[in-house]
Amino acid sequence: MKRILFPFSILLIAFSLSAQTNKLDINTSKLGIEIPSTMYGIFFEDINFAADGGLYAELVKNRSFEFPNHLAGWKAFGSFELKDDGPFEKNPYYLRLSYPGRNDKYSGVENEGFFGMGFQKDAEYRFSVWARNPQNDGDVELQVELVNTSSMDERQQIAEGKITVSGKEWKKYELVLKSPIALAKGSLRLVLGTNTKTLDVEHVSLFPVDVYHKDKNGLRKDLAEALEQLKPGVFRFPGGCIVEGNSLDTRYQWKNSVGPVENRPLNETRWNFTFSNRMYPDYYQSYGLGFFEYFRLAEQIGAEPLPIISVGISCEFANGSERSDKHAAVYQLQPYIDDVLDLIAFANGDPATDKWAKIRSEMGHPAPFNLKYVGIGNEQWGKIYPENLKPFVEQVRKKYPDIQIIGSSGPFPDGKDFDEMWEAMRKINADLVDEHFYRNEGWFLKSGNRYDKYPRKGPKIFAGEYACHGDGKKWNHFYASLLEAAFMTNLERNADIVRMATYAPLFAHVEGWQWRPDAIWFDNLNSFKTCSYYVQQLYSLNKGTNLLSLTMNGKPVAGNADQNGLFASAVFDKESNSVIVKVINTGDKPQSLRLNLKGLKGKHQTELTTFHAENLDGENSLENPSLYVPKTTKIEMSAPEFDVTIPAFTFQIFKIKK
Ligand code: AHR
Repeated sequence: MKRILFPFSILLIAFSLSAQTNKLDINTSKLGIEIPSTMYGIFFEDINFAADGGLYAELVKNRSFEFPNHLAGWKAFGSFELKDDGPFEKNPYYLRLSYPGRNDKYSGVENEGFFGMGFQKDAEYRFSVWARNPQNDGDVELQVELVNTSSMDERQQIAEGKITVSGKEWKKYELVLKSPIALAKGSLRLVLGTNTKTLDVEHVSLFPVDVYHKDKNGLRKDLAEALEQLKPGVFRFPGGCIVEGNSLDTRYQWKNSVGPVENRPLNETRWNFTFSNRMYPDYYQSYGLGFFEYFRLAEQIGAEPLPIISVGISCEFANGSERSDKHAAVYQLQPYIDDVLDLIAFANGDPATDKWAKIRSEMGHPAPFNLKYVGIGNEQWGKIYPENLKPFVEQVRKKYPDIQIIGSSGPFPDGKDFDEMWEAMRKINADLVDEHFYRNEGWFLKSGNRYDKYPRKGPKIFAGEYACHGDGKKWNHFYASLLEAAFMTNLERNADIVRMATYAPLFAHVEGWQWRPDAIWFDNLNSFKTCSYYVQQLYSLNKGTNLLSLTMNGKPVAGNADQNGLFASAVFDKESNSVIVKVINTGDKPQSLRLNLKGLKGKHQTELTTFHAENLDGENSLENPSLYVPKTTKIEMSAPEFDVTIPAFTFQIFKIKK
């Protein structure tokens, strides 16, 4: 008899465990702390060809012939010569095309773009070039072609036109070509007309006409729109490690990234040789996407701009964290400090009185950009960082007391360096501290209480780079995004001290990536949003205006031992007059929950959004971009108590109209 009863009793216990109903107590009548508008934002870095070859819509690689291999990206033919006395001081190289010697030969040059050039069907492309006839002996014709070199058709050219260059002065010429087909790997070919003349070409450019907001020097529309759809509260740029550079010389220098694009000098990127298993020797920064464009984008997508500037310390992973000639000594810092002061003037100053504000105005934005934050240093640690940071803080505070300064806590979310940097940031009185955590699944699962324990006084927190990196896999699978969603309840619950958070990195070209996971992937024609992107978007669209208290047995729901892998948080949204409850079930069993909405009565229209994947390793892709997307249905909830079942491995949001 005993033998029969024993397994039966276990079964009963097991049944009662999975059928146990936990109660979430949500106090809807007492508004808690305000959720900052900056809470969920975006982190942009030119990694994975996110800028040139990505968001920046320019299709020509090495358009100014300034790569160290001056013809990288180009195939020149016939008679050609590189010259270096061009019209743009900081980009002096250009190409001279001349008579190839016989009338049945051609001189010209072909550009391969970034992993090929993407042409959309029926889309128009604006070609432009600076050119001259150095011999001044009449008109010179230049044939401009969009070509498909792998075509089996009679003609490789899919679109063509001509420009006529006259005079020995450099002038800009333009032409619009329309692509009749979609082509992922096209190229641009320029052919000198069949006469015996000579032609100089410089800054050869090809942009889609239909760029984001139809801006001059604009952005690829699908990618910029994906950012807009995130409704980010804050926009961090330009990195990341590229802020620091592999060396001080190659740090991101924003002053080189403003003014006419033709005269923005090339910079080496941090990410060309970082990983020998994914090497990109042709990866440079044209600075075509520069600080003006970043500020303009921030404004267009409604996010607070958040630039990060070098603190005179080059990448410490590459150069160590001890004092050395790899880093600027304190007495050498003034030009670096000026970069910060001048940047604030560029963004906020009066064009009538300030040189940098005048440049902003000449670039088309006389009104200030209303900059409020500046990060000084990226992932810095060691004694050198606070030593270098100190004079920056003193001078910024003195000249711009309203600007909030963000300091770094190093590359890792805990440990000796992290503790020391936090201590130093307290001493220096930073307004916010930038924390980075690229961590595995276990870390995310057990960090649901991270910020509950933080001191309430002192600098606030900017979770400036984070992503869940799967155990043994570093892709954008659903489970990683689910754990990010779980962890983010902790950000929300602690919005009094966590003021902003930006998932990282943002973009990756499928043929040009160095780092994954990333929020948005693309090739030359298409893009797709990852599960992590959707989690960010769900938080951002449901951030609400005020925190509400949400507890289970009197405790926050943060994946603790007795909480069955549940994470939850709640906010009130004044704009939509709704209570928004986020619940993440990271467990492998459905969870019965009773939502106890204290302060609500009767029936309430509710939007229920569910994000779930049967396959935890599943991810979206170019071939299947919408395999995993959140789905919203309408239900009616009765209050104060309503029973729900959260499926296993699922993120659900209840938006309850009050
Ligand atoms: O996001 C990729 C890199 O990770 C950033 O450049 C750096 O700040 C961090 O180490």
